[in-house]
Amino acid sequence: MTASQSGEASGFIHRFVAPAPSGPKTTLLLLHGTGGDEEDLIPLGQELLPGAALLSPRGRVLEHGMPRFFRRLGEGVFDLEDLKLQTDELARFVGGASRKYGLADSKIIAIGYSNGANIAASVLLTHPLLLSGAVLFRPMVPFRPQVVPNLKDVPVLLAAAKHDQIVRPKQTSELSQILTTAGARVSTHWHPGGHELGQDDVAAAKEWLPQ
Ligand code: MLT
Repeated sequence: MTASQSGEASGFIHRFVAPAPSGPKTTLLLLHGTGGDEEDLIPLGQELLPGAALLSPRGRVLEHGMPRFFRRLGEGVFDLEDLKLQTDELARFVGGASRKYGLADSKIIAIGYSNGANIAASVLLTHPLLLSGAVLFRPMVPFRPQVVPNLKDVPVLLAAAKHDQIVRPKQTSELSQILTTAGARVSTHWHPGGHELGQDDVAAAKEWLPQ
């Protein structure tokens, strides 16, 4: 297997970076924000968990040419039908990529930013066995589940921002409550600034991840 591959599996353009020979048995599933692509979070993944396998798909929905992971009707107003469809497709992609790249023994931890954090939260709530944990940078409540999933002891780090113009603190506490009710072990980091990531977010995620 080459150290880094690009390709398309289950309809997702993606980048895969193979783990280092003695790297951690963890795969980081990197999910970019609106307008990003599969390259965006590779440096972040390498910084967060050196030597880990990185699986980085590009969102398949285009909004004025900008890739996203699901459609929205307005800022923070999601197309729930498309969210469900794209969430299922992403979960299928992760399963397929895990087989293709021999990651069966590896724990999958999602690292999502903004729109990527929202679909990661949606994956947690609808495919609770797929992820071993998640770092959600600036997430919203993707949807309110009718049936509480079993996320017993799944660790989740919410990295929210005190002056986020897109995500209100109420959304962060509601998401925290939904995940906690499902049994997840939720920690929250508060960045002092806005929606953009800061070095403190990276440091908090690094400290939170198993090194
Ligand atoms: C979303 O649409 O997922 C959120 O509003 C975050 C964003 O992409 O702006």
